Amino acid sequence: MPTRREFLLTAALLAALPLAPRAAEGPFRIGTVGAGRIGGTLGGLWAKAGHPVMFSSRHPAELKDLVNSVGPLAQAGTVAEAIAFAEVVLLAVPYRALPQIGKEHGAALAAKALVIDTCNPFASRDGEIAVWARAKGAGLATAELLPGARLVRAFNAIGAGRLPELARRKSDRVGMPIAGDDAKAIALASGLIREIGFEPVLIGPLAMGRHLVPGTPLAGEHTRDEIRTLAATLN
Ligand SMILES: NC(=O)c1ccc[n+]([C@@H]2O[C@H](COP(=O)([O-])OP(=O)(O)OC[C@H]3O[C@@H](n4cnc5c(N)ncnc54)[C@H](OP(=O)(O)O)[C@@H]3O)[C@@H](O)[C@H]2O)c1
Repeated sequence: MPTRREFLLTAALLAALPLAPRAAEGPFRIGTVGAGRIGGTLGGLWAKAGHPVMFSSRHPAELKDLVNSVGPLAQAGTVAEAIAFAEVVLLAVPYRALPQIGKEHGAALAAKALVIDTCNPFASRDGEIAVWARAKGAGLATAELLPGARLVRAFNAIGAGRLPELARRKSDRVGMPIAGDDAKAIALASGLIREIGFEPVLIGPLAMGRHLVPGTPLAGEHTRDEIRTLAATLN
């Protein structure tokens, strides 16, 4: 957990980054755990930006059409293969899958430079684990399930179906609120988010990830400045 001073320093450094699209260094090998609406869409956008992507799920043989549609930078594998392949992991599974993913792959995930957490807890879909995660806050709950992972919450509350169109915008970029504790992971996530057409806005440490779920004021499509204004009212 960063101190308040460290967090403010990170926020100030990120705020000073230029607004113009700025490529992440790389390319980075990206592994998606989950390749449905959000994993498939974001993996496709990052492949389009030049990053090799391995999509994974419990049924990788079913990902052939996705891989073919994304093109030569895409492949599919098991969850273990995608995590082994990846420098950056995108978590895009129903929240109820996270305890098992933590048990089976926690150590491998803790070795990654960045784990992007798109997962939202919904009691109606995920059961008891979602009730616990909502009470704890989605960011801190994922951190407890994946100890040591350099987590950044992002892409939690804009519909996957909207992402390709928003990503094509040349101006009036949509802001992407993010929360995390690790300065290097935040910087890496910010570069990757910028590369696919969104303006990252750090709203605070991972504990603030509790505000990054559908149905909160930060959900939906906002500009960078709107997100900053909204985030200033939250604690
Ligand atoms: N859809 C959106 O617009 C959206 C937006 C923001 C955030 N989110 C969040 O993103 C997460 C994924 O949502 P989604 O809409 O993309 O769901 P989805 O379309 O149902 O896709 C879920 C993916 O996860 C895989 N999966 C499920 N259990 C797994 C496990 N135990 N191990 C590995 N892979 C597993 C599924 O494949 P198999 O079943 O074949 O394993 C599938 O590829 C959710 O937490 C959701 O709340 C969604």
